[in-house]
Amino acid sequence: MTVHESVLDAIGDTPLVRLRRLGEGLRPKVYAKLEFQNIGGSVKDRAALSMIRAAERDGLLAPGGTVVEGTSGNTGIGLALVAAHLGYRAVVFAPAATAAEKIRLLRAYGAEVHLVSDFVPRSHPGHLANRAAAFAAATPGAWLAQQYDNPANPAAHEVSTGPEIWRDTAGRVTHFVASVGTGGTISGTARFLKHASGGSVQVIAADPDHSTYGGGDGGAKYVEGAGHALHPDSTEDIWPEAFDIALVDRYFRITDKESILTARRAAREEGLLIGGTSGTALAAALRLAEELDEGNTVVVIIPDSGRNYLSTYFDDVWLTSTGFCASEAAAGTVGALLPDASAGVQLLATGLTVSAAARELTRRGVPADEPAFLALDRGRSFGTVHPREVTAAVTVRSLAAVGQSDPLAADEPAALHGIPFSLVGTGTAVADLALEAGQLVAVLVDGRIAGTVVRSQLRPLALSES
Ligand SMILES: Cc1ncc(COP(=O)(O)O)c(C=O)c1O
Repeated sequence: MTVHESVLDAIGDTPLVRLRRLGEGLRPKVYAKLEFQNIGGSVKDRAALSMIRAAERDGLLAPGGTVVEGTSGNTGIGLALVAAHLGYRAVVFAPAATAAEKIRLLRAYGAEVHLVSDFVPRSHPGHLANRAAAFAAATPGAWLAQQYDNPANPAAHEVSTGPEIWRDTAGRVTHFVASVGTGGTISGTARFLKHASGGSVQVIAADPDHSTYGGGDGGAKYVEGAGHALHPDSTEDIWPEAFDIALVDRYFRITDKESILTARRAAREEGLLIGGTSGTALAAALRLAEELDEGNTVVVIIPDSGRNYLSTYFDDVWLTSTGFCASEAAAGTVGALLPDASAGVQLLATGLTVSAAARELTRRGVPADEPAFLALDRGRSFGTVHPREVTAAVTVRSLAAVGQSDPLAADEPAALHGIPFSLVGTGTAVADLALEAGQLVAVLVDGRIAGTVVRSQLRPLALSES
């Protein structure tokens, strides 16, 4: 039995576990490195401890000081627990969409949490990083961790995660797979493994589908903690200094659906409860393993536990309401009403005025009652969209009515004159929908608005169900 002399000593030295069930039929050995075994429950404990120790060494953080960071959760939890142990105040700025469990955890460790709207351009003062920086600048004795650019973040993995993998596989690791948030985990670990293996270990970045790291459009996604989003109004796509892209040999792009369903499979088939980005990394590792022969050993990082996501990825109601359903649309569900599951919807740039939006829809020949969604402008006029990027729904008829009732309103932003709509997942039973007059229902397929249904379509079905 390992005895630790302090909580901080219980960070690192996580187990490698061979995936026997998920790896069945695959030629290489696939091992998961269980980072949720760190004392704070995630891979980020390593970076948090390393960054705080470096700040102390550099004289940036002293007794009575305050640790500040903008973080989607796990880094904050790591910083909060290390700060609690060492007697520092911890203040965390977190995106409003962060899982409720993580926010409660932060508060449990005594951190002060400020929730911040999470989808504004990097230059906006309200951006998470800018809010945290402004707070640190205004607070005497405060130190801003800046995990994205802090060299002590990847360094944590170069001195611990990498050597542990090398030691525990007796130097047999041939492929290393990890998701990328700040890039600290993949860069530090890869740097060590490349060096130890004379460059032969292959490094695979598992990237959420819309992330710009792997070539995506920067759009919003569901898995928290990995990938790189980009607000369309951002002038530059700035990648973290912690991420050394030269160390990555390949990117595997993994959809939200594949990440979530892989995490669920791991729980049900392997008995391993893992989070969303673990699902991303595991999906990539399993795909990679299909290509490899017996001589290979794949190690995949499992950044955190599924316990953080019991109310989302592991909740059947959440899964149904967001449209992440494994099977074909069943009879009696909203999905069965969509002509084509990935049909897509009309999209308009969110800044358009009432008259410009009406003109554009008319130019496209969109029927008067067909809804369109005002969304962050990613240069698409048709397709699926994450609901977080949508500001309003309109139709040619609703826009015309605005202009008729008040001609001056024609020059106002169309987003101020949206029609109400509700969001339902493709798996939602039609009988479960509240059918109010004029109600527009936006249907989520795999978490993105991919179609709409209106009351006239639903009424006969709902009646026949009851
Ligand atoms: C759940 C989860 N997965 C993956 C990562 C990515 O780790 P890194 O920032 O080291 O790239 C993070 C980082 O916060 C995370 O919280």
